[in-house]
Amino acid sequence: MTDKSLIAVLKKFETEGLAAVRDASDLGALERVRVELLGRKEGSISVVLRGLSNVPPDERPTVGQEANRVKEILSRAIVERESSFIEGTSISHEDLTLPSRATWEGAIHPVTQAVDEISKIFRDLGFTRARGPEADTEWYNFEALNTPLDHPAADEQDTLYLTDSVLLRSHTSPVQMRTMEKHDPPIRIIAPGWVYRRDTYDATHTPAFMQVEGLVIDEGITFVDFKATLAEFARRYWGPDTEVRFRPSFFPFTEPSAEVDVKRVVTRQDGTREEMEWLEIMGAGMVDPAVIENAGYDPERYTGFAFGMGPGRIAMIKHGVDDLRRFFENDVRFLGQFTS
Ligand code: DAH
Repeated sequence: MTDKSLIAVLKKFETEGLAAVRDASDLGALERVRVELLGRKEGSISVVLRGLSNVPPDERPTVGQEANRVKEILSRAIVERESSFIEGTSISHEDLTLPSRATWEGAIHPVTQAVDEISKIFRDLGFTRARGPEADTEWYNFEALNTPLDHPAADEQDTLYLTDSVLLRSHTSPVQMRTMEKHDPPIRIIAPGWVYRRDTYDATHTPAFMQVEGLVIDEGITFVDFKATLAEFARRYWGPDTEVRFRPSFFPFTEPSAEVDVKRVVTRQDGTREEMEWLEIMGAGMVDPAVIENAGYDPERYTGFAFGMGPGRIAMIKHGVDDLRRFFENDVRFLGQFTS
């Protein structure tokens, strides 16, 4: 028999079978119908399934599927009809003995968690949140920040240019100038956001990553405010026993500039305390008077400090992750460890 006619036969079994099930007047009659249709030896459907080996191989899947579909429909109809005979009983098709499915619980990405924790600490210290565009101009990314375009950082090797003078910001520092243009002092902001660089993707670099920028401008802001604020942040983030060190450094937009290191003290389960090694957590400094002047403020009247940190790096240190790429691969086995 060909594929087409077998399928027609199966359809006939289906219609006639369903009618026979409906017409069965008691459990005994229903059992006879069942044997006739689905009985293992002589049941009509079983005969078709057994004969599949005679069907040409390329037609077998279609016929097989159809036979199984009809078998399934007839079995269900029989079970339903059976339950109508058994008063007060209802038969459920679900297998209540199966274990339930595990539920999936969403969680906040570890880098976002770091941004949120950093933001909360600065919010408690009186900072608000500012934003700036990810595609920005050479002026905001470099020149306004006292960085001449022949500075190595402005090199096309490091920066992703979109047109001659428009680029993907290579740091969040342009938000400093964009904020100062819009607001008068006092300014106390943080600006978390994505930044882009032409970096090779490896264990410590990605071409896109997060930074959190900070800027404080007011009358009478001194180096003491700068050190005290960042040390307070470090203790709130890393723990009250954390030591903070300001190491001289250079950034074109700050003078003097510093790199801020922390030394954590961890308490082991047996109560012993261990001092960890110094780790660099951010670049910072007193805002260069040239930047204050570019903003249109009087550098004789206003001073301030700025800082920039990488929450990805901070999350790595915090959780002991040795490869930054883990944060980007979105492997739930990895990310699932950071549910809080
Ligand atoms: N923009 C610097 C970078 O991406 C980080 C930085 C250093 C930001 C010092 C600052 C700062 O605001 O004062 O490497």
